[in-house]
Amino acid sequence: GDNVLYLAHKHEIDLEGACEASLACSTCHVYVSGEFLDKLPDPDEREDDMLDMAPLLQENSRLGCQII
Ligand code: FES
Repeated sequence: GDNVLYLAHKHEIDLEGACEASLACSTCHVYVSGEFLDKLPDPDEREDDMLDMAPLLQENSRLGCQII
Protein backbone atom coordinates (compact mmCIF):
# COMPACT_ATOMS: atom_id res chain seq x y z
CA GLY A 1 0.00 0.00 0.00
CA ASP A 2 0.91 3.67 -0.05
CA ASN A 3 2.70 3.92 3.24
CA VAL A 4 5.73 6.18 3.70
CA LEU A 5 8.11 3.26 3.26
CA TYR A 6 6.52 2.39 -0.09
CA LEU A 7 6.54 6.02 -1.19
CA ALA A 8 10.18 6.48 -0.19
CA HIS A 9 11.17 3.53 -2.34
CA LYS A 10 9.04 4.75 -5.20
CA HIS A 11 10.92 8.05 -5.09
CA GLU A 12 14.28 6.36 -4.70
CA ILE A 13 14.78 7.49 -1.14
CA ASP A 14 16.99 5.13 0.73
CA LEU A 15 14.92 3.82 3.63
CA GLU A 16 15.26 0.31 4.90
CA GLY A 17 12.27 -1.88 5.48
CA ALA A 18 13.64 -5.24 6.48
CA CYS A 19 10.35 -6.85 7.48
CA GLU A 20 8.30 -5.36 4.65
CA ALA A 21 5.81 -3.55 6.84
CA SER A 22 4.93 -6.46 9.11
CA LEU A 23 5.97 -4.61 12.29
CA ALA A 24 8.81 -6.98 13.03
CA CYS A 25 11.72 -4.55 12.73
CA SER A 26 12.50 -0.89 13.22
CA THR A 27 14.61 -0.32 10.14
CA CYS A 28 11.95 1.92 8.58
CA HIS A 29 12.35 4.41 11.45
CA VAL A 30 11.75 8.01 10.39
CA TYR A 31 11.41 11.40 12.03
CA VAL A 32 8.21 13.23 11.21
CA SER A 33 8.40 17.02 11.15
CA GLY A 34 6.09 18.86 13.53
CA GLU A 35 3.48 20.15 11.14
CA PHE A 36 2.79 16.63 9.88
CA LEU A 37 3.16 14.87 13.19
CA ASP A 38 -0.01 16.59 14.40
CA LYS A 39 -1.95 15.17 11.49
CA LEU A 40 -1.08 11.56 12.16
CA PRO A 41 -3.03 9.26 14.44
CA ASP A 42 -0.97 8.13 17.43
CA PRO A 43 1.08 4.99 16.91
CA ASP A 44 -0.67 1.84 18.07
CA GLU A 45 0.83 -0.40 20.71
CA ARG A 46 2.64 -2.68 18.27
CA GLU A 47 4.29 0.25 16.56
CA ASP A 48 5.27 1.70 19.94
CA ASP A 49 6.83 -1.59 21.02
CA MET A 50 8.94 -1.70 17.87
CA LEU A 51 9.85 1.96 18.11
CA ASP A 52 11.25 1.31 21.57
CA MET A 53 13.94 -0.78 19.88
CA ALA A 54 14.85 1.84 17.30
CA PRO A 55 18.17 3.60 17.77
CA LEU A 56 18.15 7.37 18.36
CA LEU A 57 14.49 7.46 19.28
CA GLN A 58 12.96 10.93 19.40
CA GLU A 59 9.62 12.44 20.29
CA ASN A 60 8.71 12.56 16.60
CA SER A 61 9.90 9.05 15.73
CA ARG A 62 7.58 6.80 13.76
CA LEU A 63 7.86 3.67 11.69
CA GLY A 64 7.66 4.65 8.04
CA CYS A 65 5.72 1.57 7.03
CA GLN A 66 2.94 2.45 9.49
CA ILE A 67 2.35 5.96 8.22
CA ILE A 68 -0.41 5.87 5.63
FE1 FES B 1 9.67 -3.40 9.49
FE2 FES B 1 8.39 -1.09 9.09
S1 FES B 1 9.52 -2.28 7.67
S2 FES B 1 8.43 -2.30 10.87
